[in-house]
Amino acid sequence: MKKTIVLTLGLVTLLFFIGGAYIITTIQNATSALDVLIKLHRVEILREHLLLHLKKVQTDLLLINTPHALGKKKVTDNVRNLKQMALSCSDCHHKPEVQDRLSVLNADIEKFILSFARAFEKKSNMAQFEEERGNAYHLSENIIEEVGSIVHMASSRLNSQTDASLKDISHSKNMLYIVVIFTPFIAAGFGLFFLRPLTKPIKLLVAATRRIKSGDLEFTITGMKDEFEELANAFNEMSAALKKHLQTITDEEKRYRLLFESAGDAIFLVEAEGENAGKIIEANPAAAQMHGYSLDELLRLNLIRDLDTPEASQHAPERLAKMLKGEWISAEIEHKRKDGSVFPIEISAGLLTFRGKKYFLAFDRDISERKEMENKLLQAKQDWEDTFDEITDMITIHDADFKIIRANKAAMQILDLPDQSDLPAKCFQYYHGKEHPPEECLSCNCFSTHKPTAFETYEPHLDRHLEVRAMPRFDKNKQMIGLIHVVRDITQRKKREAAFQRAEQLKIVGEWAAGLAHEIKNPLAGVKASIEMLKSEQCLSPDNQMLVTRSVDEIRRIERLLKNLLNFAKPPKLQLSHVNLNQLLEKSITVALKHPALVKNSSIPMAVERNFAGNLPMILADPMQLQQVFLNLMFNAIEAMPGGGTLIITTAFDPESSTIHIALKDTGRGMDQATLANIFQPFFTTKREGTGLGLSITRRLIEDHGGDISVQSSPDHGTEFNICLPTESKDKES
Ligand SMILES: Nc1ncnc2c1ncn2[C@@H]1O[C@H](COP(=O)(O)OP(=O)(O)O)[C@@H](O)[C@H]1O
Ligand SMILES: [Mg+2]
Repeated sequence: MKKTIVLTLGLVTLLFFIGGAYIITTIQNATSALDVLIKLHRVEILREHLLLHLKKVQTDLLLINTPHALGKKKVTDNVRNLKQMALSCSDCHHKPEVQDRLSVLNADIEKFILSFARAFEKKSNMAQFEEERGNAYHLSENIIEEVGSIVHMASSRLNSQTDASLKDISHSKNMLYIVVIFTPFIAAGFGLFFLRPLTKPIKLLVAATRRIKSGDLEFTITGMKDEFEELANAFNEMSAALKKHLQTITDEEKRYRLLFESAGDAIFLVEAEGENAGKIIEANPAAAQMHGYSLDELLRLNLIRDLDTPEASQHAPERLAKMLKGEWISAEIEHKRKDGSVFPIEISAGLLTFRGKKYFLAFDRDISERKEMENKLLQAKQDWEDTFDEITDMITIHDADFKIIRANKAAMQILDLPDQSDLPAKCFQYYHGKEHPPEECLSCNCFSTHKPTAFETYEPHLDRHLEVRAMPRFDKNKQMIGLIHVVRDITQRKKREAAFQRAEQLKIVGEWAAGLAHEIKNPLAGVKASIEMLKSEQCLSPDNQMLVTRSVDEIRRIERLLKNLLNFAKPPKLQLSHVNLNQLLEKSITVALKHPALVKNSSIPMAVERNFAGNLPMILADPMQLQQVFLNLMFNAIEAMPGGGTLIITTAFDPESSTIHIALKDTGRGMDQATLANIFQPFFTTKREGTGLGLSITRRLIEDHGGDISVQSSPDHGTEFNICLPTESKDKES
């Protein structure tokens, strides 16, 4: 095609060149013809001049010897001019034929001039003059005739030359017209002829472009040649690529549409701004199904106004503001269905800008089932925690590093553990009060054997008897990751067992003591009667009288001891009634202050401080026995403060455990550890006149009431007895 275009342009250019050259040549010819014409005219003028000069000399010849004859000089000038004229004529002509005739003419003129000169010289000799003048005239007539003949020849040539030149000019003009008029048509013709192969494929390309524009990507261009074939191939490749691209886009669109339509979650595209903020622009079938609407109905709704519950739509502006800031939000809110029912959803939404307009893209998931499951799980967790916390055994879960990672309420309270959140506590710190595991460590045992372990121990740090069990915990790879530590407080059981043991011992001791007392009682009565009789004897010296009196006192003390011993061995049954402990204590204080030591020495300063609780409930108990308890303790306290002091009595009620706490504290001498360890043993006393039965009876009475007694004391720092009594107890009722 490039060749064709080049050829076309070449031909048109050549055509113009030929036309131009032809026109130039024609114009040149016409100009040369005109040149010749001009030259011929100049020859004509020269001939005229030659004739004129010849006539002048001929006239001069005729005027010789007449009054009008010119002077010699004048005649000579005219002859010279003629000569020069003849010479200038021969200078102009070059054609041999004309040149020859001019040469003859010049020779004739030379002859005429000579003849004229001779005639002029012989003017005085008339005959000769006439003869010579006749010759000269004759010569001049010949010259004129010759010039005429040359002129004739020249003018006939001039005419024919002029005709030829005019013809040439006319021809040139016609050719010019032809070239000027026809060249554009010829060029157009050439152009049309040669450009036809160009326009056809271009038309085809335009048509193909239109087909592709209308979506017919199957259309291909065929039958093209040269560069157009390449163009057609490129075009076909382009349409194939376009088709492939379109196919990819269509496939992708289909895929996304499929995703959109088959997604289980609801997908919404809503307007983000303006009056219609929240208007649903697009929604998938899941969205329609989830909300009980048809898709068409859904597309007429506003998500915030029609689908959010009033509570959810209240918080919608906050969510919208966040999204408009570019934040992607997720929240759990509630939506309502077409039938008005409400269900929980989890939304995940964000801003989307499409063609300069802002939308929100929201994914909603119906989380009813999940919520139900969560509630069930929460309930299960709560159940588990409640059970965990309700268990009165201490349960702690330890990791492999002895850390307590979880503890139930009982463990938290008894071990005084910090909050669950700050539980990096090591178990041995709280169970044993140590910075390292003890030598006998149940957890260590469990860690080394990977088997459940159990034992009973007394833990001095907690002052409790404990039944401890440890169960190993494994991960899914069967690696031991820790243990579950279950500790039962068996202090009460141990105490009951000890009490039972003691009771058994006491029973034996009691029976033995009762038998002994019984055996002693009668002889002692006889001894006592005899001594009393002796006492009444008047003959006794005052010293002997005093000895007898002292003996009677000692016998009475032995009687008291025997009475105590019998009371101890065979305690009377409980006589229960509702007792106000504050009142009973007050009564006991009154009796205690009549202690013989105080009565004997009234100057001993003895103060009683009362911290009685106002909310103390009545207690079901044996008032006589409890009074005996209080009196035993108060007497002991008074006896421990021989120089006086303060007895502080406190009562308190613990509604949680339904127990009453009574504390009797003195500022007396206190006790060392050895004494403390034995004070509840029967017959243990540090007093010269003590029986050592007071505290053992006291403890048994308290235990008979289902209560508990403990003591804290140190030398010179006083002693405090703490009694804990249940307001109601099965033990004491039975
Ligand atoms: N408040 C107290 N202060 C110091 N020691 C006490 C106190 N109460 C009891 N004791 C010690 O306990 C011992 C036993 O007391 P108890 O059983 O009442 O027998 P008794 O009073 O007959 O000695 C006393 O001998 C005494 O050493
Ligand atoms: Mg006593």
